[in-house]
Amino acid sequence: MIIAVDGPTASGKGTLARQLADHYGLPVLDTGLLYRAVGYQTQLNHGDADNAADALAACDFPVSLLDDPALRYETTGGLASRVSVHPAVRAALFQRQVDFANQPGGAVLDGRDIGTVIAPHADAKLFVTASPEERARRRHAEMRGRGVDVTYDAVLADVHARDARDTGRADAPLLRATDALLLDNTGMDKDAALAAAIAFVEERR
Ligand code: C5P
Repeated sequence: MIIAVDGPTASGKGTLARQLADHYGLPVLDTGLLYRAVGYQTQLNHGDADNAADALAACDFPVSLLDDPALRYETTGGLASRVSVHPAVRAALFQRQVDFANQPGGAVLDGRDIGTVIAPHADAKLFVTASPEERARRRHAEMRGRGVDVTYDAVLADVHARDARDTGRADAPLLRATDALLLDNTGMDKDAALAAAIAFVEERR
């Protein structure tokens, strides 16, 4: 069984993907981490994330980079969103994600284009979202909890910028697959979101 979980930044899709993977005993891949690694490697190479050749060269990042805490930084998320607009970068990361999705026994993947590009044949597709203000509130609280000194307005501006870039790019934009469940979790707690997701997966398997 393949479960595709897509959605915008700070929508809770990563948490939901991990919970579904636990529930069904499936391996899970956070595909955003791959783009984050490319973005961060571009910076380590002193390259420009907006330059396709620099970003492509960074696709050769060492596997160990995937464990680097710096990949979780907000700034790295911004770099990821910039390198991810280049079709050559998306092509370089494509096969790895497809292989993960199609491994025997199935998998859960979360990202932006899993249900549309990486695993269009997925058994169950979820499009997880929440209002930009709610996503900014959650991200702001999470960052403040980590001791990051940032204002809510700055986080909201970043959420809007990431949404615009991820939705507006020509290649594999963030888009709800027509057969995906729209799970808007604004004002919903994590348990309720998980229950709704499981009910949908059960219908589809
Ligand atoms: O999900 P996360 O915030 O870690 O993703 C970082 C960035 O990587 C996103 O803003 C998006 O631009 C890019 N991304 C993508 N396709 C995916 C996963 C992430 O373009 N499947």
